[in-house]
Amino acid sequence: MAQKICIVGTGYVGLTTGICLAFLGHEVTCVDVDQAKISALHAGDVPIYEPHLRELMALAAENLSFTTSYADGVADADVVFIAVNTPTAADGSPDLRYLRAAAQSIGETLGDRFTVVVNKSTVPIGSGNWVGAIVRDFFEATHPGTPGNFQLASNPEFLREGTAIGDTLYADRVVVGSDDPRALEVLSNVYRPILDQTFTPPAFLPRPENFGVVPLVSTDLASAELIKYAANSFLALKISYINEIAQLAERVGADIAQVALGTGLDTRIGRRFLGAGIGWGGSCFGKDTAALITTAREYKLDMPIVAAARETNQRQRELVVEKLLEELRIIKGCTIGILGLAFKPDTDDLRDAPAIDIAQRLISRGARVRLHDPVAMGRLAREFPELADCLRDEPAEVVTGADAVVLATEWAQYRQLDWKALAPLMRSPILLDGRHTLDRQRLTAAGFRYIAVAAWN
Ligand code: NAD
Ligand code: UGA
Repeated sequence: MAQKICIVGTGYVGLTTGICLAFLGHEVTCVDVDQAKISALHAGDVPIYEPHLRELMALAAENLSFTTSYADGVADADVVFIAVNTPTAADGSPDLRYLRAAAQSIGETLGDRFTVVVNKSTVPIGSGNWVGAIVRDFFEATHPGTPGNFQLASNPEFLREGTAIGDTLYADRVVVGSDDPRALEVLSNVYRPILDQTFTPPAFLPRPENFGVVPLVSTDLASAELIKYAANSFLALKISYINEIAQLAERVGADIAQVALGTGLDTRIGRRFLGAGIGWGGSCFGKDTAALITTAREYKLDMPIVAAARETNQRQRELVVEKLLEELRIIKGCTIGILGLAFKPDTDDLRDAPAIDIAQRLISRGARVRLHDPVAMGRLAREFPELADCLRDEPAEVVTGADAVVLATEWAQYRQLDWKALAPLMRSPILLDGRHTLDRQRLTAAGFRYIAVAAWN
């Protein structure tokens, strides 16, 4: 049954969720404090780069509205999803100021019908209760004498940027947590079309072959909150683990791609997230592993495995500089190109992007850096104006006269470059494949000295 849904925060998660739920037939209002974002959405523009999101928004248009007014979205909603950003504060704990502000505004504007207020933002364990208390305080302050008629729930989000729609419509699982059975019932109804796969898939994103129903994990509030951190930290440590193995593989002359394949085909381990290279970036793995460690510390627990995964990930970035040093001897004065700036392909997100970190490390050692990305250059110029002069419009401009090129993000278009034509343009044709994504033999035949974060002979 279609529900009235309000989504608070229209970033990567909120916008994707809002558009997908509207596509499934719910009546969705998306609220954001960023007027420019809402104006862009009114004009039919999607303010982030996410494949097919604009097309799905057009398909869902009749069920979808955008506003900066909480009153328009919250007052008569059955469900209010909070999807605001929860970045890392200076001490490693999550900065909850946006969540607090959202909870306050929701409390002030809730109506008298039963509403489920759902944390979709990744929040520290215990935040559900905390958000509930804020909503209640502000509801009572603005509605004297009226008892609040809402319940709190957690619905952690597992989508990946770049594949956000597929991850939502064809999810591995849906997790909902609440201490109130009514709230769990409402949420399972919201997700029913996904759980039972009763919707007609959009033409551009067919249902994967043999895709079955989606399991629902229905649990208490704290378990749902912990599932999110446990999942992200596990994925992060899986990547760091293969990166450690890659270092040993290099020393013993083993091929890490084959090692990852032969290891990952064990179904208990799984092939995914065993891609070795310059390590993870993005807004979540770093933030969520840090938050898990700080939460554990509050309970006098250490998380040594998670802490080690973080250290390994930092080391991968420095390894790129060390590899270049080995090749070039002196980095000062060298020109180094970086292809791919977003933290992964198919997104324009630069949060904690390894490419930016590596560029800054090289610049601090006196290198001249040139940068290219298929979609994230405008965003880089806005968010890192100190790097704007390094941007080049075409990969060929990055490569020409360079002493080395680093492939930092495995955009498909870089695999398709005419590398044979590019090699002679370089001062020295050294290519460091930070994602182990190019064909080593093809690159060598094209005239490159092909190296990787963990190369083999
Ligand atoms: P984002 O920064 O892209 O978007 C957050 C949005 O919230 C922004 O548009 C901002 O203007 C808006 N906002 C901030 N304060 C507000 C307020 N008081 N009222 C209304 N809107 C407000 O963030 P994101 O990447 O979508 O992440 C949101 C949450 O989801 C985070 O907790 C994150 O950890 C989690 N998450 C993110 C991903 C991902 O792939 N990005 C995946 C799973 C979970
Ligand atoms: C990740 C999780 O995969 C999502 O399930 C989760 O919802 C999200 O974080 C979140 O909480 O924000 P995302 O960061 O969008 O999603 O992208 P991933 O595909 O997980 O990639 C993260 C980073 O790991 C990227 O920098 C990627 O290049 C790197 N990575 C990934 C590797 O280095 N090796 C791999 O094998 C896989």
